[in-house]
Amino acid sequence: MDKNEEKTQVEEQEQDQVVNPWQVSSKGKIDYDKLIDQFGCQRLDTSLIDRVQRLTGHPAHVFLRRGVFFAHRDFGEILDAYERGENFYLYTGRGPSSEALHLGHLVPFMFTKYLQDAFKVPLVIQLTDDEKCMWKNLSIEESQRLARENAKDIIACGFDITKTFIFSDFDYVGGAFYKNMVKVAKCVTYNKVVGIFGFTGEDHIGKVSFPPVQAVPSFPSSFPHLFSGKDHLRCLIPCAIDQDPYFRMTRDVAPRIGYHKPALIESLFFPALQGETGKMSATDASSAIYVTDSGKVIKDKVNKYAFSGGRETIELHRKLGANLEVDIPVKYLSFFLDDDAELERIKMEYGAGRMLTGEVKQILTRVLTEMVERHQRARAAVTDEMVDAFMAVRPLPDMFN
Ligand code: TRP
Repeated sequence: MDKNEEKTQVEEQEQDQVVNPWQVSSKGKIDYDKLIDQFGCQRLDTSLIDRVQRLTGHPAHVFLRRGVFFAHRDFGEILDAYERGENFYLYTGRGPSSEALHLGHLVPFMFTKYLQDAFKVPLVIQLTDDEKCMWKNLSIEESQRLARENAKDIIACGFDITKTFIFSDFDYVGGAFYKNMVKVAKCVTYNKVVGIFGFTGEDHIGKVSFPPVQAVPSFPSSFPHLFSGKDHLRCLIPCAIDQDPYFRMTRDVAPRIGYHKPALIESLFFPALQGETGKMSATDASSAIYVTDSGKVIKDKVNKYAFSGGRETIELHRKLGANLEVDIPVKYLSFFLDDDAELERIKMEYGAGRMLTGEVKQILTRVLTEMVERHQRARAAVTDEMVDAFMAVRPLPDMFN
């Protein structure tokens, strides 16, 4: 077999599962172990979770207990530093590609809010309006409008304004931030980005030049109004694992330009209602539950689309029990039903065939409706002035208290 054939075979095998910042798809369930291997990150084990509880005095978040955040890079180093009394900051972001967020979009923000409260640290949130403008063919104005709309949903997650800076790339890039972008860009060859991101000769150069924009919020000096004189402050990035390529690149460059490598804590994808072959899509309304959906819409979507592990007939179901491995209502409950005992009870009863799909869907509908309605009330209370206040370039004098 010659070299070319070999390559094609490898590519075909890899096609079974494609995960990058712009595409998540797989033929069957996503194989997260394989992803950890491919990307070279670590599994988040219980000893790290125990340390979070011990160091912060906060009980582990449901996303930690249930393995939703399941992988990391250097998270242990962040905890070591914190234990020594050193501070760090959090960095996360969102590409504003749609008006309404779906439940999957909330996952990293709910978790980041927990980390901010538990560790009492500052947080920067990047809205990559430029990224979405280039990838989704949105106009600059539309991307900027979506960024502000999305900022309201993010603020509604409860972030502390005295510790949180939200910025849009179109508004904020420049100055020290831009200088860091240039430093990063000089360290990354074209071959390197092609290797990491799979760009082709047909991609416009905006895409090729974007990765430094997402890289540099990992470096404290990109925010002189916050971290002036603190070039050695560490950074922890909570994100879904599809963002890993950006930060692999960033970590590679960091020591060469005098910064710590950012640490990462990475989540699973939130599965589509139809089943676990990718992540929910913001553009396919029937695959996702949006934070704008009413109780009635949630109920209809759950009943109509949520893939069930229940059996064909009641008799068969009573005999075999539900297949919990593929059941979406159970999966969703494992993300959002905080009560461990109640979740165990449902899994037990449903798995043994004593509980039917209809009952589980009813519980899920209640849990999601409560959560979404709470979000809607919080979002309705977010004013334009509050968005301006979160996005103002300002010092945060109490950010480590
Ligand atoms: N690229 C991300 C998206 O499309 C947005 C983003 C920017 C981000 N910086 C980040 C996500 C840091 C997680 C962490 O949604």
